[in-house]
Amino acid sequence: MAARPDLLQRLAVQTDGRAQTQLYRRLRTVTRAEGPFVESNGKRLLVFCSNDYLGLAQDPRLIAAWKQAADSSGVGSGSAHLICGHRREHAELEEVLAEWTGRERALLFSTGYMANLGVMQALLQRGELCVQDKLNHACLLDGAQLAGAVLKRYPHTDVESAERQLRSHDETCALLATDGVFSMDGDIAPLRELAALCARENATLMVDDAHGLGVLGDDGAGSVMEAGLSEREVPVLMATLGKALGCSGAFVAGPTALIEGLIQFARTYIYTTAMPPALAAATRCAVTLARTENWRREKLQVLIRRFRHGAEQLGLPLMPSRTAIQPLLLGDAQAALDASRILEAQGLLAVAIRPPTVPQGQARLRITLSAAHEEAHIDRLLDALASLRLAGAPV
Ligand SMILES: Cc1ncc(COP(=O)(O)O)c(C=O)c1O
Repeated sequence: MAARPDLLQRLAVQTDGRAQTQLYRRLRTVTRAEGPFVESNGKRLLVFCSNDYLGLAQDPRLIAAWKQAADSSGVGSGSAHLICGHRREHAELEEVLAEWTGRERALLFSTGYMANLGVMQALLQRGELCVQDKLNHACLLDGAQLAGAVLKRYPHTDVESAERQLRSHDETCALLATDGVFSMDGDIAPLRELAALCARENATLMVDDAHGLGVLGDDGAGSVMEAGLSEREVPVLMATLGKALGCSGAFVAGPTALIEGLIQFARTYIYTTAMPPALAAATRCAVTLARTENWRREKLQVLIRRFRHGAEQLGLPLMPSRTAIQPLLLGDAQAALDASRILEAQGLLAVAIRPPTVPQGQARLRITLSAAHEEAHIDRLLDALASLRLAGAPV
């Protein structure tokens, strides 16, 4: 028999190694979800870690749209978009998303992860330049690697470093990709400066607005629209449907040339089953509500202000964010785990985010707020955080 090492054995050793540290990841099963509450392990918990920023995930109108479409179109789409899976519900949702984001066309993907991999792999060829913020989401980094691009990561929001990186390879095609709202920090990319830089350097700007869509901009059209940037300035806009819209999936919006190119070359679009048509129908309903029910964004802002004010008074380690993502930076992984456990004992769910999801020494409670919360919920969170202090936790 060959002396080849066994892959599963090696994985088990790596997994054991992680169990020795404070970085082991564990699944939690939620048995019921009800507004901002979930039930898990027989306990009712008030959630402060969901991305359902506008509180739409359980809206009865979305559920009705889903049911109605399932009655007429069934559950699965049956195939990839390019075979026979592209239904009327998908086409209608794409039109609405393009209009909302002020782009010529939009194209649905089954997840945000697949959208980012597909865009990078379609746009970039081996050896071409991909410049990215160091704190970009994992799937943007993976996308550049999948494409075989030369990946340069600039320090967080440092436009001058991004400029140097673009200039260091000024003869190859270049894509500069950034999160619009950073998923673990909640701050917003310097989009106008990055757009000006890309215009000067003839690079293409891509914005992943997973956490900005629905939350930022007058009718929730996201960070790019809030910054007043056109399709010419940000030709590649990607956003997800599983966060503020309360559904699942993603889309890329931009000029027809981009969308037609993705249909030809984005492998994560071509070789996968189209999302269920009922999901597209529910998402279209979510877009209408997100655009028209301004009270959701207004309420969210009131809750954000209330939380930040209270947290400042308690001297908690807030980060500079005006979005629904309001992390408390604790540093040590064990400290973040302890804080999360103490909160859970008081009926609150805010999970600890540890390396490698965030840089070493920057473990945190990634607290997120939602229009589904009430002011009394924020006060309950603040009381619990104050009790952490009393318990001697390093918050
Ligand atoms: C910034 C960002 N981009 C992309 C994704 C991936 O989206 P999806 O969950 O739809 O795969 C996420 C998180 O899920 C994200 O935070």
